[in-house]
Order: sequence, then structure tokens, then C-alpha cells
Amino acid sequence: MRVFTVVGARPQFIKAAPVSRALRVRHEEMLIHTGQHYDEAMSDVFFAELGIPAPTVNLGVGSGSHGEQTGEMLQQLEALMVEHAPDCVLVYGDTNSTLAAALAASKLVIPVAHVEAGLRSFNRSMPEEINRVLTDHIASLLFCPTPTAVENLATEGITRGVELVGDVMLDTALYHAGSWPTEPVLAEFGVQAGGYCLATVHRASNTDDEQALRGIVEAFGALGSTVIWPVHPRTTKMLAAFGLNARLAELGNVRAVSPLSYRETVALLQNARALLTDSGGMQKEAYFFGVPCVTLREETEWVETVTAGWNTLVGCVPDAIVVAARSAVRPSERPNLYGDGHAAEKVVAGLEKAWCASGGKL
Ligand code: UD1
Repeated sequence: MRVFTVVGARPQFIKAAPVSRALRVRHEEMLIHTGQHYDEAMSDVFFAELGIPAPTVNLGVGSGSHGEQTGEMLQQLEALMVEHAPDCVLVYGDTNSTLAAALAASKLVIPVAHVEAGLRSFNRSMPEEINRVLTDHIASLLFCPTPTAVENLATEGITRGVELVGDVMLDTALYHAGSWPTEPVLAEFGVQAGGYCLATVHRASNTDDEQALRGIVEAFGALGSTVIWPVHPRTTKMLAAFGLNARLAELGNVRAVSPLSYRETVALLQNARALLTDSGGMQKEAYFFGVPCVTLREETEWVETVTAGWNTLVGCVPDAIVVAARSAVRPSERPNLYGDGHAAEKVVAGLEKAWCASGGKL
């Protein structure tokens, strides 16, 4: 089977790593990097740390408006798919790279397999929600991380090709985290286990709205205890645009640092008192490592983490962020919500089954 894997943004490298490893045992994979994320710190370091094979092609699309970015990817991906005629196109998550690849493939009648299918925030103002809804509706194989995701698809009338496999991010976490010592990273950042919070902010609704971003900065400052904040490039840009850097520098407890590698992220997350984030993936990673999460959004796709008591949704209201972070505790129970760490093998088995059932024509 010749599989086109399309990735482009940081979380997709983490998701694709275990699937690529499993896929390449028996099949040909062409790994296409759209270039949506292009900095060393946002892209290359993940390939190196996670042992992901170098991309077969990097489209170098880079930044732009949604239309420009998605359109440029669509055009280039279509040409590559015509040239190489893959048996299937494998996409991950909910970024513009996901949608562009799914759309290009479906118009060429190439089957689309979506990993992390069925996630919903039910907030159509999020670009990611549009990307995932559209991708799910044109995918032939839908690999879901949770029973909730399967139910969401059923509600939209999608039941064919749906399989519950667990979460591929758990595969990556289990594969690497245990073998990486965390002490050197804590020493590098000058913190001790349990003595700080880790924070990440990159969602457009938080970064591109001055009041929201200002409120988040003030809330981090009001926490008093150390907050390590690896700042996403989009957020760096908006902190400068809203003139918030001076205020940030005044806050002695908030340490804004460059984007972290996966190894650094995992080490700092595992030892944090709590995570403050608007990331989707990191809400789950906090759960994997038993760290309470305060989510800087009104809603989440990972509803199980909230029901289990490990995640509190607070939006961007400063007082709510402070109260939730100060009172964050570890519940006594942490049920297994995301599978057994072998989701990637199940994705590959699902592809193979569909491939065989179709007589070598998915
Ligand atoms: C994208 C995804 C989001 C995902 C996130 C992970 C979409 C719509 N959004 O958001 O779902 O959670 O990635 O990080 O696809 N930039 C750099 N260097 C880089 C990459 C980006 O400087 O390597 C800057 C660019 O100026 C760009 C901005 O960050 O304009 C935003 O990047 P973009 O990929 O458009 O969206 P993200 O906010 O990263």
C-alpha cells in the first residue's frame, strides 16, 4: 500500500510519529510536510526527537490567511497526488493542513483516512472545528480516539468506516516519556517538581483579542507562583502588537520562554503543579501524566477530562483562571480514557483491513 501522510503543524508531528513507525514496517509511506509550521523550534526539533523520517517533500507553504494557506496547500497537494497516485491519504487532527489534504484527495477520489476523527467543540467560530467537521464528512476511514468521538460522528450520520482505536498521542507519550530523564530539564529551567505551573496560549480567540490576552497575562501574574510560559510565535506577535511585553516583564513570576521541544514539554508538564492551556492536545497530555489542567477556553473537545475531574474550563476571565489554578488538585481516580498506547497499530490494521476488503483498491 502506498500511503500519503500529510502533516504540517506541531501537534501533527507528535500524532504521526507512532503511525509512521507502524506503517513503514510493511508499507510505503510518503510523508508530506506542508510547511505550515516551519521554524526549527516548531518543526525540525520534533522530527529529530521523535525519530520521524525526514519528509519526502516539504511544500514550504508557511504563513498566510486561512484562504491563502489552505489554497496554496490544496494546489500543491493535488499535483503531488496526481503524480504519485497514493492508495490512501492519511491526515491528522484539525489544522488547515488536514483540510487541504482531505479536500485534495477526495476530489481525486483517493480515500481519506482521518486520525483523531469525531472530535467536536460545537463552536463553529473556531477554524479547527470547521476543518474537522469537513474532514470527517469526506473521509472514508475515521479513526476515533474516544467513544464520545464515535457518538459525535453518529449524530452527524457518519457510521461507516468509523473505528475506535484510542489516542495516538498516548502512544507517543508512553513510547518516549518513561525513558527520558526529567531532572536535566528542570535544572535547565531552574524549577523543582511541583513548584511551578506550565502555561501555553495560542488559540486565535485568546491571542488575537486584546482584552482576552491582557486578561490572561494579568491572571498569570496574579498567581504569584512561578509560571513557565513557552510562547507560540502567533502569541509573541500579538503580545508585541498589543504592547503587552512591558507588563509581562514587570511580572516577576511569569517566565516567557521560546517554544519548547517535545522532550522539554513532557518533562516540564510531568512535574508541574498544574497546566494552564488553550491547547487541545496538552489537555490530554496533562491527563496522561496525572497533572490537573485549567483550560483557557469555554468548551473542550476532550470532555472526558472534565467529567473525570482533571480539567476545569475557565475561558479567559482572569479571576476564574486564578481561582481554578490555585485550587487545582489531583482527583484520586484517573480512569483509562484514551486507550492502551497501541492506537497507531490499530490505525495501520484498519487501513490494511480496508485495503484487503477492497481488493487492493481502498
Ligand atoms: C495551528 C493550527 C492549530 C494548532 C496549532 C498548533 C490551524 C487553523 N491551526 O495554529 O489548530 O493547534 O497550529 O501550534 O491550522 N508561525 C511562525 N513559525 C512557525 C509557525 C507559525 O512564526 O513555524 C507564526 C506565523 O506567523 C503564523 C502564526 O504563527 O502566521 C500562526 O501559525 P498558523 O500555522 O497559521 O496557526 P497556529 O496558530 O500555529
